Amino acid sequence: MTTKKRVLSGIQPSGEFHLGNYLGAVRGWAARQDEKINYFCIVDLHSLTMPQDPTTLRAQTRSLAAILLACGIDPARSTLFVQSHVTAHVEACWLLNCLTPLGWLQRMTQFKDKSSRQETILTGLLDYPVLQAGDIMLYDADEVPVGEDQRQHVELTRNIGQRFNHIYETEFFVLPEVKVPEAGARVMGLDNPENKMSKSMAHIRGHAVRLLDEPKEILRSFKRAKTDSDNEIVFSSAPEKAGVNNLLEIYEAVTDKDRETVLADFANARGYGDLKVGVAEAVIAAVTPIRERYDYLMRDTAELDRLLAKGADDARTQAQPKVDAMKELMGLVLPARK
Ligand code: TRP
Repeated sequence: MTTKKRVLSGIQPSGEFHLGNYLGAVRGWAARQDEKINYFCIVDLHSLTMPQDPTTLRAQTRSLAAILLACGIDPARSTLFVQSHVTAHVEACWLLNCLTPLGWLQRMTQFKDKSSRQETILTGLLDYPVLQAGDIMLYDADEVPVGEDQRQHVELTRNIGQRFNHIYETEFFVLPEVKVPEAGARVMGLDNPENKMSKSMAHIRGHAVRLLDEPKEILRSFKRAKTDSDNEIVFSSAPEKAGVNNLLEIYEAVTDKDRETVLADFANARGYGDLKVGVAEAVIAAVTPIRERYDYLMRDTAELDRLLAKGADDARTQAQPKVDAMKELMGLVLPARK
């Protein structure tokens, strides 16, 4: 018998969940739930490292939970929970802070990038990757499915884990590997197809297709999508074809058709107008059942909160003993059991 790999996925509740998040990540997570032991963590504490409106953050946290469930994350097979419900995450963050050199954090490109755009740099933003290291290593995760932009944070996690293992002469922490999703599901912005569809830009008209958009909104977004002037419907990596290529790849992903069939479907298109409508219709067909399940889940948030409480209980049974064992190794006295 082979033991199943352990996977921790972290997803921020801030910003609006869009087609790129679904096709690029969550759809695959849902499809492969049985292959591995999965923890899905809604990282609300990470969202606090940037300014947030409290009411919006709270609403987005529940909304994201409902979206993940609607996309097929099954609480009977996976552990879905909110990071702040499991206090071991902040405890682990502090403990790991006490062995992480400041220079390692100051070198992170995401920190340099985000902090350069701010007048006041918050400590939490610098510490963000240490919290993330705790998220991952509390669950003995072998794999972390993230985009390229998060590779550096997972490598930092390994460095912190290695340092802990070295100092305390143990093999206490599993050192995680990055698992970048397979190609083909990289959805680009409809208005700027040179760049990935972005959660933080999802509110800009014409940039993203949000998973909860109404059909007519989805159609409108695709009709505005940037293309080119040569009228050739082809898969291509040429920069000027980025828009058309993105539309075709979205269609390929939502229909699960091979490329030949995709092109055959558009062989009679009378231009990009037909392409855009065809892609929009395929996307609407794919997301409508998700939106319906979402609406159903959001009708009873007490039930949703119960599911999350159950997820947090499950997560805690793994994370709390792990953080307690860290404390013991580091010389803290654990409270006597009552
Ligand atoms: N930093 C990740 C992102 O922005 C979110 C995240 C937080 C995460 N903790 C994690 C991802 C743990 C994977 C594992 O995408």
